[in-house]
Amino acid sequence: MFILVWIMQLFTDRSLEAERLNILGTVTYSAPSNIALVKYWGKKGRQLPQNPSLSLTLETSRTTTTLEFQGRTYLRDNKKGPGLEFFFHGEQRPDFHTKISTYLDSLALNELPYLKYFDFVIRTENSFPHSSGIASSASSMAALAGCLAEIHFTLHPELKTYELYPGQLASILARLGSGSAARSVAGPFMQWGLDEEAFGHDHYAVLNKNIHSSFTEIQDSILIISAEQKSVASTAGHRLMEGHPFSEARFLNAKKRLMKLKSILSSGDWDGFIELVEVEALELHALMMCSNPSYLLMKPQTLEAIYRIRAYRQAHGLPMAFTLDAGANLHLLYPGSSSLLVHQFIDQELRALCENGQVLHDYVGRGLRREGAHLS
Ligand code: PMV
Repeated sequence: MFILVWIMQLFTDRSLEAERLNILGTVTYSAPSNIALVKYWGKKGRQLPQNPSLSLTLETSRTTTTLEFQGRTYLRDNKKGPGLEFFFHGEQRPDFHTKISTYLDSLALNELPYLKYFDFVIRTENSFPHSSGIASSASSMAALAGCLAEIHFTLHPELKTYELYPGQLASILARLGSGSAARSVAGPFMQWGLDEEAFGHDHYAVLNKNIHSSFTEIQDSILIISAEQKSVASTAGHRLMEGHPFSEARFLNAKKRLMKLKSILSSGDWDGFIELVEVEALELHALMMCSNPSYLLMKPQTLEAIYRIRAYRQAHGLPMAFTLDAGANLHLLYPGSSSLLVHQFIDQELRALCENGQVLHDYVGRGLRREGAHLS
């Protein structure tokens, strides 16, 4: 209850005096991608999850976003949101521009009405290759949300007293852009959504602190099976969970699995981890396969890689688990101590299944980072 009151106080339309809006500056944040171990699949209300999810925050797969902002004391035209120029790796991208301006307009209409008085220039870059097929919505929305949260706190210095942990406002704002982005603000393990023990929150992600040392150095090698844009976007996928014949069973499974995963992470049980994480990834794709209409995001090479991972694990007893996002690419998770052997296995048996032999080696990270700011 306190939390909901806090969120309302955070966004209550504080009619800002004109002189407070008269600000100018630049702020830069970077944020990593994350990979869900228990997945969010299906939403309700204003981007709230149907079930709690738990993810691993990555480190090197990041988006860096610089936001140049200038406040005005008057509304220039009938705009619903801020004026916007958008550059991705120095180039204008109308598709990204539309997505970001829709997001900002929606914030201006709801949580951050003062955005109408701003002009923004956004410059954003990804650390991972353009044509890797890695979804950048989590990292990009979290980085932009970091910038917006800083502007919000600059305009409302009194709000700092309500702050529960750094990044919480960023998590709320990131969630409104892309649900999974809520979890990219901190790390190593983040939970988004209220669980069966009344821990967590649907509006923002929280840190899962009880982690055994055998999971603190976890590595993630991303096998780029296909760099193609996926045929069905996540937004459409979430929508297909409405009226899905297995939706109720799925939400229940995910809730139970989350509790089990938390106990696995705290006890250091790698065997339990492998079993749970793999069935969770396959369940997500099974839901897609029996949606109406049905669709399939895995490629033949995805399945071949899964067979090879399972066979190698059985033969050599190496702890490693695969998981999947809403796409064809596989994430291979393993403890830092097995890196050498797993990298050899990837080079010998998996790399050939990847588009242009692309594999990105990443590892567990700490989330959103403030890279710099200049305010005047
Ligand atoms: O954040 P969205 O709307 O792109 O949805 C993400 C959905 C999954 O990646 C499949 C699962 C998850 O929890 O990240």
